[in-house]
Amino acid sequence: MADDTAPRATTNRSTTPGSDLFRDYISSQWAEHPEVLPEPREEAPWAAARRARLSALHRGQRLVVPAGQAKVRSNDCDYPFRAHSGFSHLTGWGADTVPGSVLVLEPAGDGHDATLYFRASAGRDSDEFYANPEIGEFWIGPRPTLAQVGADLGLATRDLADFEAVVGQVDADTLLVREADPDLTRRVDAVRDEADLEAPASELAERVERTDDLARDLSELRLVKDEWEIAQMRRAVAVTGAGFTDVIADLDEIVAHPRGGRLVEGTFNRRARADGNTVGYDTIAASGEHACVLHWTRNDGVVRPGDLILIDAGIELESLYTADITRTLPVDGRFTDVQRLVYEAVLEAADAAFAIVRPGIRFREIHQAAMRVIAERTAEWGFLPVTAEEALQPDAQHHRRYMVHGTSHHLGIDVHDCAAARRELYLDGVLEPGMVFTIEPGLYFQSDDLTVPAEFRGVGVRIEDDIVVTADGAENLSVGIPRTVAEVEAWVARS
Ligand code: GLY
Ligand code: MN
Ligand code: MN
Repeated sequence: MADDTAPRATTNRSTTPGSDLFRDYISSQWAEHPEVLPEPREEAPWAAARRARLSALHRGQRLVVPAGQAKVRSNDCDYPFRAHSGFSHLTGWGADTVPGSVLVLEPAGDGHDATLYFRASAGRDSDEFYANPEIGEFWIGPRPTLAQVGADLGLATRDLADFEAVVGQVDADTLLVREADPDLTRRVDAVRDEADLEAPASELAERVERTDDLARDLSELRLVKDEWEIAQMRRAVAVTGAGFTDVIADLDEIVAHPRGGRLVEGTFNRRARADGNTVGYDTIAASGEHACVLHWTRNDGVVRPGDLILIDAGIELESLYTADITRTLPVDGRFTDVQRLVYEAVLEAADAAFAIVRPGIRFREIHQAAMRVIAERTAEWGFLPVTAEEALQPDAQHHRRYMVHGTSHHLGIDVHDCAAARRELYLDGVLEPGMVFTIEPGLYFQSDDLTVPAEFRGVGVRIEDDIVVTADGAENLSVGIPRTVAEVEAWVARS
């Protein structure tokens, strides 16, 4: 086993005393910790049903789904840990996942037995709790016990040390989420390589052709959300809306600051943290011409009255489900004529896309519906060297100069959810009730774009909503966050 419990080098700093006397002393005189077992969390039966669906796809195969490890930021400092999305989806363990955990589905009878391996709390008789800054209780807080996590998630649990026996048994019928924990993947492959060396030559060709496609399957398993997930999406959207309202309330301070974009980010993120959540991706606070930079996360611009500010932000809940919302606001509360014209065109594109959403259409048709409006409006304004119909031909696409991104992506536990799903199920896929995705058309006229009149240059608008497909149509989960010109102006004015 890799020595991943050894503390990282901190030799340039004072360290914990190493004498036996100190060790004996600090290990003694601690009160008993009564073990309180929680009720199973609400998500537990939903996660069990997801495991059952995965199990049915892989009869007889051992499935290994690691949560992954914390990633080093620098030296001995890590980024905040976030479990692999597939792991959280199958276990219901979200922001409180213990790093390094692994879910194993072991073939049994017609299905699988699920076991969650994790590093359980260390006793006060070990020196880990005070001497290991990476995982010790004195340093990062206590870990739960095997029984507590077992009760919480409704899963069989075992100590991570026991997972070594599973690694020793991996074979051609073991499927792994390879991307989740690269060190573990290397160790698993090493065991298989050794087995291959011992295999008769006839079997070798088959064995080296490993089909670790579990990441794809886990992405596809998430294409249709269950009821619990849709409820999470509603919550994520609601708290994200509150974050936008907080930003509007702070607009005076934001405008007065030389880096107003940073205050937008800070105010939104404060809402996330104060509610016990975080953000699902780096907040985009793009004012003035920065709105034309699709993923502007530097956020160091000044926020000027008379400009638009494009805010693309989403709060991720402790369950890891995230919203992904964009609103474009007039900083001083009133759209100019040009800003309104552009805004209304983008809104028309969003509404045209939403109008066609229902079970049975193809995902790619949503983008096509939005692009027709974008082509028609930009042609009507005289920006295209061809007609809208000509621009819409696959080899032309002149209007895409002003919107180079796509209109929709699946959304859920990842902001760009289900990314490893096969094209025939995603872009070319047919919509089903329970699918959740964004509709986010935009128009971006770069400040040096000579194809548009001067008054359009530096204007960028995106409107992004989160949509769920229903039995006979669709619901815009974020429709309650102001999105028409009148609603947006009233929203800014109210604050
Ligand atoms: N916030 C990234 C996106 O809208 O896809
Ligand atoms: Mn998006
Ligand atoms: Mn977005």
